[in-house]
Amino acid sequence: MNRGILRIGWLLVVMALPVAVRSQIPATTLAWDSLFQEFSVPAGQRYQPFTFSVTNVSRAEVVVTQVLTSCGCTVARLPAQPWRLPPGGSGTIEGAMDLAGKFGILLKTLTVVSSAGDQILSVKINIPAPRQSDPEEMLRVRNQEIAAADRQAVFRNDCARCHLAPAYGRQGRALYGAVCGLCHDAAHRASMVPDLRTVNTNNDPQIWRAFIQHGKAGTLMPAFGEDDGGPLDDAQVDSLVRYLNGDFQKSGATTTMAPPSGPRPPLTGSTP
Ligand code: HEC
Ligand code: HEC
Repeated sequence: MNRGILRIGWLLVVMALPVAVRSQIPATTLAWDSLFQEFSVPAGQRYQPFTFSVTNVSRAEVVVTQVLTSCGCTVARLPAQPWRLPPGGSGTIEGAMDLAGKFGILLKTLTVVSSAGDQILSVKINIPAPRQSDPEEMLRVRNQEIAAADRQAVFRNDCARCHLAPAYGRQGRALYGAVCGLCHDAAHRASMVPDLRTVNTNNDPQIWRAFIQHGKAGTLMPAFGEDDGGPLDDAQVDSLVRYLNGDFQKSGATTTMAPPSGPRPPLTGSTP
């Protein structure tokens, strides 16, 4: 596990979720056995359980009110709700990830919401591809691995041909189709890529803006804002927020985007 990447990852998490995350819980308050867990499972395994242990090392009670998970396929249970951890008290948060129909790399986050702030925990699961003989699928797994190591990789080298080049000069709906719909509306997208019409953003433009600018650290969702090393200028981000919070919500229709033509990059292709 690469500590450097992880630490940068945490920084981005803090910056990425200004709406949801108040502050990370200091290690002098809650001590976790780990903040990141990784598993490799055999093909066909249906569930992967995980456990995070925590101790209240402060002198005050900490009340954990809930655990939010980044997708419906992950469940996490608290010993009690609300869960009161007295000074010196400890316990575990247990959960499981549903792996049905999934392969490649799954990255999911748990946000522990407490009286002392919020803490993000991450779980990464490697699932072997079912059809090793299918070059398309192998390429997809390879691309996912590259993006899991650095979610901004889609904007560089050969990835940019499909994931960035179509953005130039585009705004609003067309820009959405070019850079967001490419992943989110693809008929053959990986199971971890959600349908954005099912995402509850409370009709709040700030939530769309935060996702577009910062993406989602610890997942494959890249950051598009210039300040986060992304490719879109403020005017383009504004146009996306207006479209997503307006016509996109109302339409309900899928703006299916034809995948760019041309061969996928070779497996040995240039990577950063
Ligand atoms: C030829 C065009 C093309 C190139 C080049 C390309 N992608 Fe993609 N990418 C797509 C399409 C289209 C999708 C939507 C899913 C699908 O149809 O396979 C996608 C989806 C993804 C996803 C979402 C997960 C998934 O599999 O659905 C990730 C992550 C990704 N690409 C990363 C990369 C990375 C990293 C590179 C460069 C190493 C790259 N892509 C190069 C076209 C491309
Ligand atoms: C390389 C593929 C890719 C591209 C391009 C992409 N996304 Fe995502 N996006 C993802 C993945 C994967 C997730 C799921 C993250 C997770 O595991 O929680 C996601 C999650 C999201 C979410 C959060 C959904 C939720 O409930 O947590 C939003 C909102 C979102 N994307 C919006 C966008 C917008 C807007 C764009 C275009 C500016 C975009 N995405 C471009 C892959 C992509």
